[in-house]
Amino acid sequence: MYRILKGKEVADSMLEETRVIVEQMERKPHLAIVLVGNDPASEVYVKKKLQKAETVGIRTTMKRMDENTSEEDVLKIVEQLNDDSDVDGFIVQAPLPKQIDFTKIVEMIKPEKDVDGWTSANMGRMFVGLPALMPATPLGVMKMLEYYEIELNGKNVTVIGRSNVVGKPLALMLLKKNATVTVCHSRTKNLSVHTKNADVVVAAVGKPGLVTANMIKEGAYVIDVGTTRVDGKIKGDVLFEEVIKKANCSPVPGGAGPMTVAVLISNVVMAAQMTAGK
Ligand SMILES: NC(=O)c1ccc[n+]([C@@H]2O[C@H](COP(=O)([O-])OP(=O)(O)OC[C@H]3O[C@@H](n4cnc5c(N)ncnc54)[C@H](OP(=O)(O)O)[C@@H]3O)[C@@H](O)[C@H]2O)c1
Repeated sequence: MYRILKGKEVADSMLEETRVIVEQMERKPHLAIVLVGNDPASEVYVKKKLQKAETVGIRTTMKRMDENTSEEDVLKIVEQLNDDSDVDGFIVQAPLPKQIDFTKIVEMIKPEKDVDGWTSANMGRMFVGLPALMPATPLGVMKMLEYYEIELNGKNVTVIGRSNVVGKPLALMLLKKNATVTVCHSRTKNLSVHTKNADVVVAAVGKPGLVTANMIKEGAYVIDVGTTRVDGKIKGDVLFEEVIKKANCSPVPGGAGPMTVAVLISNVVMAAQMTAGK
């Protein structure tokens, strides 16, 4: 029988570690989240992030803005949060309404408060190996691999997806652990050639059912980052029911999702500690 890689379990243990650290901090860290518009999925994610942050003792603020808010007004809020010395870290929840350039907004966030780790400053620091706030989803995947003691040194790892927030930074993190990394994307020919050869496969695409059992090597490890809402239910990229009969696999929900939240919250504590010079 193969293992179910329960991200929820790993996330709970990470959150408990964070709670203990926060308990010992005289000044409790403060996370702010900017939510623009009424995207139902974003509402759920933001609620979860705030609730988990509060559970570990982090103070929270939510800045809710109307769907029709201008880019200029979002930039103003970002500036306010940058200047607010009581806010240790903040995020602007993606996606943003069409009239707002997301990259422009992210680039305005002070790198030391960028707890999503999405600014080019933090990405660049990570690239050259300097201390940085790292993007939560790929770091969450790495923490899961570490928790389950999955060997990466010299192993073949295939990442499906090359976005700036998941696939690309994940490839870099895996390289640092001495994996031989293959990155696949929408123009990749014969995806299964690359997945069948892999000891570890990470799917971060957003296409339910893309990864099937016949694409996976017997006994491999499969992490499913994909989240797509289908008929009100969240689906991953991997056909879990068939892949788990052949390989170790993370479920959706309960896999990479909770890890993203746990890492974000630990980034808030790290941001507070860095600001305090610790
Ligand atoms: N669990 C979480 O907390 C969490 C966090 C972040 C994201 N996610 C989920 O993870 C998934 C990816 O997110 P993202 O932000 O990285 O998405 P994204 O920016 O849309 O990137 C998707 C990637 O998948 C590639 N792709 C599309 N179709 C493909 C195919 N048929 N075969 C191989 N590759 C294909 C795209 O290739 P091109 O570059 O060629 O277009 C792109 O690189 C989404 O489902 C998202 O909801 C979950």
